[in-house]
Amino acid sequence: MIVNDELTNLLKRSPLKLINVDKSYELLAAGDVVAIPTETVYGLGGWIHSEVGLKKIFSTKERPFFDPLIVHIDSTEKAKELTSEWTEIHEILAKTCWPGPLTLIAKKNKLVNPLITSGLDSVGLRCPRHELTLKLLSQIEGGVAAPSANKFGKTSPTTSSHVFQEFGDEVHILDGGPSDVGIESTVVGVHQNRLEIFRPGFYTAKMLSEILVKNGLKVDVVYAESPVAPGQLKHHYMPKIPLVVVAENFHLNVLPSDFSIQFQRPVIWKQPESPLIASRELYQKMREFDELGFDIIFAQKSSAHEAEEWFGVWNRLQKAKTLEL
Ligand code: TXA
Ligand code: MG
Repeated sequence: MIVNDELTNLLKRSPLKLINVDKSYELLAAGDVVAIPTETVYGLGGWIHSEVGLKKIFSTKERPFFDPLIVHIDSTEKAKELTSEWTEIHEILAKTCWPGPLTLIAKKNKLVNPLITSGLDSVGLRCPRHELTLKLLSQIEGGVAAPSANKFGKTSPTTSSHVFQEFGDEVHILDGGPSDVGIESTVVGVHQNRLEIFRPGFYTAKMLSEILVKNGLKVDVVYAESPVAPGQLKHHYMPKIPLVVVAENFHLNVLPSDFSIQFQRPVIWKQPESPLIASRELYQKMREFDELGFDIIFAQKSSAHEAEEWFGVWNRLQKAKTLEL
C-alpha cells in the first residue's frame, strides 16, 4: 500500500520497471540484475554464470563482498549439480521442504563462482515457492544468486513497490504480488550428524527434527551462530525511524518528560496473535509506520513470544532495534 505522496509522485515520474519472465531471462543472461518474487521476500537476482551480473548484485545493494549469496534453483537435481557433497539430511530436507522457505548449505564444487560464496567452500541453496520465479529458474542454466532486494542492512522488501522504494528505476522487477511468508528463509547447515540453524525462519528446529525422524533419521537440530557466515551482523533490517523493544506492560507515560520533545509521534506495535501473520506483515509494518508519519516505534515483546514459532520474527526485530528498554 502506497500512502506517501512523495512516493506517488515519484512513481508518476518514473514508472516501475515491471517485466515478464521472458524479459527477466534476457536481462539475467545478459549480465543484468532483476528483482524476483519469492514466498519469503523479493530477491535481487543475478545469473550465477555471469560474473558481471554477480558483481552488479553487490554494487546495486552496496553489499560487502564478505557476505555470501544464496543460489536459487528450481529442483534438487540442479542443487546437487553445484555441490560436491549432498548428505541424506540434505536429500530429505530438500525433498520435503522444497519449493519452500529453507536454505540448505552444502559443500560447493567448482561450478560455483567464489564471488557467490565469499570464498567459502560451501554454498547456500534454495528452491523458492513462487510460480513466476520457478518458471524463470526452469529456463536459465544453473541458477540465480539472490540476496534480499534491499540496500545492505535495510528492511527487506515483500512487494514490488518496496523494491522500487529501494532502487527506483535502477532495477527491473518481475512482479509476483506480496510475499506470503514475509521473512527470509531458515538457513541450515549440516555438521557431522547435526543440523545447525544459522538463521531462524518459517521452519523451526522442531519441524525440521520431526521431518528427519519421520524419514528414519535421528539428528540433533540446534540453533547456532554460523562459524563462517559473516552475514549475520548485529544490526540489520533497520527501518528509517528508531525501533525500541519494550515489555508487554509498557506505557508511554513511563518515559522521561524530555522524551516528548524529541519524539512527538510514537507508535506502540503489538504483534498479532499468529506468528505466521506477524512474519507476513513484519517488514510492511516497519515501512508503514514511517510512511504514516510516526517518528519512533515501540515494539512490545510478550511472554508468548518466547515460543520457538516466534524466533524468526524476533530475530529480525532484535537486529532492527535501536534500543531495548
Ligand atoms: O529467503 C531468503 O533466503 C531470501 C530470498 C531472496 O531467497 N534471500 C536472502 O538472502 O535472505 P540474504 O543475502 O539476505 O541472506 C543470505 C544469508 C547470508 O547473509 C548468510 O548468512 C547465509 O545466508 N549464507 C549464504 N551462504 C552461506 C554459506 N555458504 N554459509 C553460511 N551461511 C550462508
Ligand atoms: Mg537480506
